[in-house]
Amino acid sequence: MATATHSMAAPAGTTRVPPMRRFLIDTDTASDDAVAIVMALRHPDVQVDAITVVAGNVGLEQAVQNALYTVELCGEQTPVYAGLAKPMMRTLETASEVHGDDGMGDCGLPLHGRTPTDGRAVDVIVDTILAAPGEITLVCLGPLTNIAAALLRAPEIVDAVGRVVVMGGTGLHGPGNVTAMAEFNFWADAEAAALVTSSGMPFEFVGWDISITSAVVTQQRFHDREAIDTPLAAFSRDVAQVVRRFAMGIGLEGDDLPDPIAMAHAIDPSVAEVSRLYVEVMPGDGPQRGAMSVDQIGSTGNAPNIDVVTHYPSDHFFDMLFAALR
Ligand code: RIB
Ligand code: CA
Repeated sequence: MATATHSMAAPAGTTRVPPMRRFLIDTDTASDDAVAIVMALRHPDVQVDAITVVAGNVGLEQAVQNALYTVELCGEQTPVYAGLAKPMMRTLETASEVHGDDGMGDCGLPLHGRTPTDGRAVDVIVDTILAAPGEITLVCLGPLTNIAAALLRAPEIVDAVGRVVVMGGTGLHGPGNVTAMAEFNFWADAEAAALVTSSGMPFEFVGWDISITSAVVTQQRFHDREAIDTPLAAFSRDVAQVVRRFAMGIGLEGDDLPDPIAMAHAIDPSVAEVSRLYVEVMPGDGPQRGAMSVDQIGSTGNAPNIDVVTHYPSDHFFDMLFAALR
């Protein structure tokens, strides 16, 4: 009996279209999250199945409105779901002094009156991952509260999720951006970060160290972006006007873009330098809250659990960013 052969090669004379990569984005939508969302929505090979929102940079309702506005600005219909409004075991401490009261640079955008899709973010995270084993790249851009709740509800997502790219932590050498030792996403909900990091999910951490070394909008990058002269380029400039002042006030050459460079790694990990190490995140209060313990020489005897990005080329990142803004 003849058997059908299912050649993977494209028919002669055609080029094989790469399969769409399916992303699920969890975000505490403020200025840099919004730019990262634009990068995913505008990438031809990426399908964003859903955006789930968590409280962090701003309160949950504002983060939901910011995400809905960003999706609308890109002319997309991507569903946006509201998630958890506070960390697992502590009160919410936002970063409005960094991103502005509305989280989007207080530049007068109409960030209100839009309606999220019915459904709970935690259920969407679980259902989307379990419905497509191995296919979903979960990109985490905020505190890990929703992810922790999803893990508690359905631990089987550990083995079902394809990749988990996290903007969080301080990489191999720091520094922290909220305390000397901790980065905001891990600090804001340290217990969720500790729980998630120890879960066994296939993590790739893109820390704030990568952002301040490879994703700073220096004067030259600022002018290069101005030359693009599109509404999305103007949007990415305007929403960052508060964080730019904050960043330059702490000595950076411009605003840095942690979520966008994490998104760049999610889209194209091929150019990243990565070390697979054993990492823990510290729960609790005090100076160690949300700090990363990175075992670089195997002294803990624990098996490595995280792919820590140690370098991402700046030119490659800005090429990807600017392509999304055109
Ligand atoms: O520390 C940087 C991270 O905290 C980014 O995700 C930024 O959006 C804030 O959430
Ligand atoms: Ca964020």
